Amino acid sequence: MNWFKTRVSILAAIVLVAISCQHEPVEPPPGMGGNGGGGGGTDTTGPGDDPCDPDIIYFQQSVLPLLVSSCAIPGCHDAGTAQDGVVLNNYENIMETGDIDPGDLDGSDLYEVITDDDEDDRMPPADEYPPLSESEIGIIRDWILQGAQNLSCAGDCDTTNVTYALKIEPILSTNCLGCHVGSNPQGGINLQGYANASSVALFGDMLDAVQHTGTATPMPFGTDQLSQCDIDLIRIWIENGAPE
Ligand code: HEC
Repeated sequence: MNWFKTRVSILAAIVLVAISCQHEPVEPPPGMGGNGGGGGGTDTTGPGDDPCDPDIIYFQQSVLPLLVSSCAIPGCHDAGTAQDGVVLNNYENIMETGDIDPGDLDGSDLYEVITDDDEDDRMPPADEYPPLSESEIGIIRDWILQGAQNLSCAGDCDTTNVTYALKIEPILSTNCLGCHVGSNPQGGINLQGYANASSVALFGDMLDAVQHTGTATPMPFGTDQLSQCDIDLIRIWIENGAPE
């Protein structure tokens, strides 16, 4: 596990998501409660800029991007559509559904619908979308079990070596690809792979969209802005000519 530990220093949550897409979900230590006992006095009572702890699922870095790009898409659970009165675009609205019971999977209908064996009851709708992956379900499960708090963490913002492969692909993969992938992406914009992403970066509205400047529709769509670090990295990458 050493290779893992050493990789979780910077942008831990993002790296964690990228890793867990390929491997098993990261399990919290048993008995992980509201406070990471002996974890150095980490404040887990509200959103903040705590350093990222690999054993904690941070709502802002891991859960929100996942729910936004899988559920809060136009026509589904974005604020504009609100299917069944359910809006999954930010912490307040997600908790407001009553479908999350902190610490209790059985009482959490949101967990129930993403894991339902019956395709007719499962979300996202089985006729149009694949089920969430094991690692994505693991993120939501662990977040609920850890108390479903609105936590945010900030690693040091490392603005060296800002290449697509090292810094940008993980940001896009966590925050954008859920909507901007495949043959019929949202807004007609595909951001998967270097060729697509760099072309939207250099010739499209990517910077204005994530900075919420200019006339571009603010991205990610209908939810909280990216962290300042992620925005800075995208800006630096584009200023440098979007290196691969
Ligand atoms: C929940 C779905 C969703 C997510 C997540 C999302 N987008 Fe979008 N994106 C859209 C939709 C819908 C449009 C079309 C908006 C419109 O036409 O006004 C769009 C349009 C865009 C555009 C064109 C904007 C314009 O006005 O020209 C860019 C660039 C873009 N997205 C980049 C991103 C980036 C970068 C991310 C991640 C940081 C992201 N998107 C995340 C749904 C999403």
